[in-house]
Amino acid sequence: MLPRRLYAQGVLGINARNQKYTLRVNERRFYPLVDDKLATKRMCQAAGIPVPRLLAVAESPLVFLTDEMAASRLGRATLERLVETYGRGYARVVELAKKLPDGAERLCPQNPEIVAQLHQAVAAGVLVNVESMREIPVLAEAARSLGLPGRVAIRVNPDFELKGSGMKMGGGPKQFGVDVELVPQLLRATGRAGLSFEGFHLFAGSQNLRAQSICEAQRKSYELALRLAAEAPAPVRVLNLGGGFGIPYFPGEQRLDLAPVGANLAELQRRASRDMPAASLVIELGRYLVGEAGLYVTRIVDRKLSRGQVFLVGDGGLNHHLSASGNFGQVVRKNYPVVVGNRVRGAARETVSVVGPLCTPLDLLADSMEMAQAEIGDLIVVFQSGAYGLTASPTAFLSHPPPAEILA
Ligand SMILES: Cc1ncc(COP(=O)(O)O)c(C=O)c1O
Repeated sequence: MLPRRLYAQGVLGINARNQKYTLRVNERRFYPLVDDKLATKRMCQAAGIPVPRLLAVAESPLVFLTDEMAASRLGRATLERLVETYGRGYARVVELAKKLPDGAERLCPQNPEIVAQLHQAVAAGVLVNVESMREIPVLAEAARSLGLPGRVAIRVNPDFELKGSGMKMGGGPKQFGVDVELVPQLLRATGRAGLSFEGFHLFAGSQNLRAQSICEAQRKSYELALRLAAEAPAPVRVLNLGGGFGIPYFPGEQRLDLAPVGANLAELQRRASRDMPAASLVIELGRYLVGEAGLYVTRIVDRKLSRGQVFLVGDGGLNHHLSASGNFGQVVRKNYPVVVGNRVRGAARETVSVVGPLCTPLDLLADSMEMAQAEIGDLIVVFQSGAYGLTASPTAFLSHPPPAEILA
């Protein structure tokens, strides 16, 4: 972990800096100067004392992503490639991370500009996961007019669910993919249209912390794809088994145990080399890659007491972080991990609600939660904010400014 490594190298956290040095060795009248990091830096520079270069000053509200942690999941080279291509806005990195596995790029077919998008996809040589029968003639026409192969995989809506997942995206009637019963018909149409069939995509659900459920869904997805492969116009080259790897958000949640998932995938890869020798297995992860690397920070602009209950009002809330407010798929609202960032240790504690600036009671980041006693100007930090934070939020609602995004 980055904080531990910095500590081992003698870098102090803010609390240790204040307690051990700043407040201990200075007279009270100097506090305003020495407690202000920018003022201290400028004084040091004026006095010729070497200090690290100032890169930028970030004001709240802001979203912060530790590139160390993101790189540990994405891989340093991939993260650098994404940042180089798309800039330092971390939200874009999160979105793009979902498209990464080679040959497994996705398109969202609900988009009204679908025809233009599919033409662009064929022109770019992208493998399109077909979600609807209607896309077949469009892709065939694009391939014909461009003189290029129309590469397709079929997204299957399976006849099973991912047990224990926060959000189910397969099984039963669903807007995603093509019901498994209709897939043979779609496979025939793909062949007739002269498209280049490459494989299947199955995404049963999201946010699952139970390794056994993920393994079971992967096995069932594999077996389903194997059955369907018998009716396919060409050998399977890409088998996307989806993802669903969750991260812990709430008290009592246990981290996903990756070892059995890895063993299960290795076993499926062994079976695939026998059953579908041309096939690469792909998994498609989102929040597992970068969700834990991100923090959302909002500054307290008011502290109110209403009939015995303390409300801390931040300069951002639901408009920047819909999912932490509990309005992004939570059935029973639970608090994300939230702390007073500049008072993590040693402070008196109290039970408060943290709210945002919007005129709706939905704008709630922490409901009756125990945390350090906080004042106006303190910083509230919401963990697990690297995925489904800013990009999943209604930033335009009530016209407050958007937060800065920092990848550091
Ligand atoms: C097709 C598909 N792939 C990947 C993801 C990423 O899911 P998660 O962030 O839970 O890993 C989603 C999320 O909805 C999805 O719909």
